[in-house]
Amino acid sequence: MKVLGICGSFRDESNTNKLVKKVVDSCGCESELIYLAQTDIKPCTGCAHCMMNDGECIIKDGMQDIYEKLLKADALVFGAPTYFLDVSGAAKCFIDRNMALYYRGIGPDAEIEVLGKRPLAGRPAVAITTVAGGGHERTIETLKLFLDYCHKMKIVAEIAEPVGMNDVHDMPDVMKRAEEAGKRLAAALKK
Ligand SMILES: Cc1cc2nc3c(=O)[nH]c(=O)nc-3n(C[C@H](O)[C@H](O)[C@H](O)COP(=O)(O)O)c2cc1C
Repeated sequence: MKVLGICGSFRDESNTNKLVKKVVDSCGCESELIYLAQTDIKPCTGCAHCMMNDGECIIKDGMQDIYEKLLKADALVFGAPTYFLDVSGAAKCFIDRNMALYYRGIGPDAEIEVLGKRPLAGRPAVAITTVAGGGHERTIETLKLFLDYCHKMKIVAEIAEPVGMNDVHDMPDVMKRAEEAGKRLAAALKK
């Protein structure tokens, strides 16, 4: 079983990324963390090539490798910081590029003929955001739409945490919730 963690904040001491890591580590499975700050992911251009070509994205950048990792992952932990009451632009860029996976496997045997087979359907996922004060409600909705509407994944835990100017490592109750989310993910993977 392999768990993939997507760390969506570009900040070195990111609280969101620390929570993603805690969930993934608490799961106790083979895992990999992808830090979006270390990747080269260009924005979706809306060219519709993926729609017409079975989910192939023609932008040959860092996302190509991530597509393969997403397809092989048994579970996903996705964290994005809240910027202006929603996910950060970098995280949204990643989300938009997932449109290509949305169109994988289009055809008569697809679950929904025009939308492909949803290759990640049914796999467990955890959504995470942190925020200074407020606006995280919309962020967590965006993350959940990405996971359960786009990918049809099964969300087993969500963390949307106002952290002020603190370091989440100094917030034991939040770290505990992240640990519990990891254990819930592990339990879902055993089913
Ligand atoms: C561009 C930008 C926009 C932000 N917008 C909000 C906001 O709408 N509401 C809020 O309470 N905090 C906002 N913040 C603060 C971040 O949500 C907060 O610091 C968050 O924990 C950062 O996550 P990170 O530590 O994972 O990078 C914003 C920060 C930045 C840089």
